Amino acid sequence: MAEKTLAIIKPDAVKKRVVGKIIQRIEDEGFEILGIKMIHLTKDEARKFYYVHKDKPFYESLTDFMSSGPVVVLLLEKENAIKHWREVMGSTDPARAKPGTLRRLYGFSVERNAVHGSDGPETAEYEIGFFFGK
Ligand code: RTP
Ligand code: MG
Repeated sequence: MAEKTLAIIKPDAVKKRVVGKIIQRIEDEGFEILGIKMIHLTKDEARKFYYVHKDKPFYESLTDFMSSGPVVVLLLEKENAIKHWREVMGSTDPARAKPGTLRRLYGFSVERNAVHGSDGPETAEYEIGFFFGK
């Protein structure tokens, strides 16, 4: 069954000029790109997007980072899209991510880890609605 997920190419990856490489990888992995846009989140929008992490010690730093420069937001579709995209991203910490994963290739630290992906069906629905409406 085709599933949708939300991916973000984070500010660090945009600054590093690896947007093209990441989009090529998305297509090579068999995802269909249903939506794509570049936006510069305000601090407030970043806070709303990462609301689930509001009580975490890294919330302020994360939302500062996510609003520090433009990001590329993508609506992706594929069978098992949520799990597949998280596999392509790799572990949150680039140093622990498997070789060949996007975070291992392009991430710099636990925070500046190049890409985001929804972590489940409910989050995907919220995140897709957040950026692309219903
Ligand atoms: P994401 O939501 O961005 O796809 O990443 P994830 O599921 O692998 O990790 P999550 O636990 O949801 O954390 C969201 C983002 O917060 C930053 N973070 N910083 N300093 C820290 O200890 C820390 N932990 C997480 C990362 O940018 C992570 O991707
Ligand atoms: Mg997450």
